[in-house]
Amino acid sequence: MRTTGFFKKTNMTISVEDSLKRKKNAVEAQLQVYLADGDTVLSQAMQYAVLSGGKRFRPLLTLAASECLGVEEQTALPFACAIELIHNYSLVHDDLPAMDNDDYRRNQPTCHKAFGEDIALLVGDGLLTLAFEVLARAPLAGEREHIRKTILAEISCRSGIRGMISGQFLDITLSPGKITPTEFHEMIYKKTGCLILAAVKTGAFLGEASPSQIQAFQEYGRNIGLAFQTRDDILDTGEDTQETEQIRSNSVSLYGMEGAKKRLGDYVTLAINALEEQFLASEELCFLAQRLLVMEEEEK
Ligand code: IPE
Ligand code: IPE
Ligand code: MG
Repeated sequence: MRTTGFFKKTNMTISVEDSLKRKKNAVEAQLQVYLADGDTVLSQAMQYAVLSGGKRFRPLLTLAASECLGVEEQTALPFACAIELIHNYSLVHDDLPAMDNDDYRRNQPTCHKAFGEDIALLVGDGLLTLAFEVLARAPLAGEREHIRKTILAEISCRSGIRGMISGQFLDITLSPGKITPTEFHEMIYKKTGCLILAAVKTGAFLGEASPSQIQAFQEYGRNIGLAFQTRDDILDTGEDTQETEQIRSNSVSLYGMEGAKKRLGDYVTLAINALEEQFLASEELCFLAQRLLVMEEEEK
């Protein structure tokens, strides 16, 4: 296995950072457009939940993967934003008292703390359905229309009961004392990995990737999905834990801090190797993977 060094700031990577920043701004602007409708409490709560400084990791993956295959940003942007809307719905519901019971998210009170549980439930429902409206309406040239169906199947499968929802179910039902490494792997792959994988593959599908390229993106997406949750667990370990976090398993409780860091490094290496084998290792895709090795929180 080739090893991946820790990310170092060099002149080359600064331009990658700038380019990702520009993409992130494009995502922010487009999300604002989708959420601009109406001035009801519901629309304010949706804006509060989404336009609150997320890293936009998933849409950046879609944009970077599609760019790698020559897709114009304007084409990929609605698809990228739809995935971010799904991610944000999952966070609003994940924070509810019946789930993780968290009071803060992105340095502000969680949606249900600010607007009430009833509104937060509807915010989640609203964001999820809005995502599919965005996917249905995203402009695509006539000859590429068939791609929409593939993407819809990918995103709905990975965010639904065969992916993220199943992972959330495992997270709340598996008992920490008894969880096996296999069950744990399935849980993090599904709850977090699947949507990240869908983000990468959406970019690949938009770029009409060949089967071997799709396979490489699949490996990249799967491994950075696992890396992402492993890093989140490492970061969460340093924070004040709220009640429910102590009764859930995570990579650190299962493998120890050093074990979790080793796994994180291995996932990132495997992700980049998969792209390199198909000459798809663009600076942005490598940067997004290697950034997961840095333990300082990203600028939001
Ligand atoms: C947090 O996701 C929840 C997980 C799936 C681990 P992010 O770390 O991407 O959250 P934001 O969108 O940047 O706030
Ligand atoms: C959240 O996982 C996963 C989803 C929302 C699907 P976590 O519960 O581990 O993430 P945080 O710590 O709340 O961000
Ligand atoms: Mg949570």
